[in-house]
Amino acid sequence: MNFTISQFEFGERPPVSLPSPQFLELLSEEGIRKMVSDHYDLLSKSKVSHLFPRIEEALDKAKQRSSDFFIQICGGHPYYNKSRGKPMLAKRHSPFAITEEARIIWLQCYIEVLSKLELPDDVLSSFWNYLNNFSFWMVNTDTE
Ligand code: HEM
Repeated sequence: MNFTISQFEFGERPPVSLPSPQFLELLSEEGIRKMVSDHYDLLSKSKVSHLFPRIEEALDKAKQRSSDFFIQICGGHPYYNKSRGKPMLAKRHSPFAITEEARIIWLQCYIEVLSKLELPDDVLSSFWNYLNNFSFWMVNTDTE
């Protein structure tokens, strides 16, 4: 499958559709937790590693929060709402300076992880489209 990273104007909030519930059904909770863990491990070695927790215990907690969120938005158990409340993710990302370049690195790390999953293209692309569009909502620092 072709993973294309879209470009947007700074400040834009492209429309977002939630991933297909089949993503969770086929991958299982455990598979989503592994995907998120692998993504964080790549981020920790990337050019944007400074943004993410260095200490293992903190990194494990970050992995758990993000996995809880993805399971929830794929129609699974509302773990995230129960432990953290309303997601309000753009607001939760605001303490971190996230540039368009950081978004691209973040998405490239996801491409590496998603390419290894054996899922039907339509299911994978529904998850990819979600990441591609919604990740731009987190870009809060203009570099122009
Ligand atoms: C679809 C796009 C994204 C989603 C769904 C997402 C999701 C999340 C979630 C659920 C959390 C935990 C929030 C909490 O504390 O409860 C989080 C934290 C964080 N995200 Fe994102 N994120 C996205 C994009 C990005 C991008 C593009 C970056 C920057 C490259 C980024 C950087 C961070 C950082 C630095 C944290 C705090 C540390 C941590 O808990 O991992 N995120 N994100």
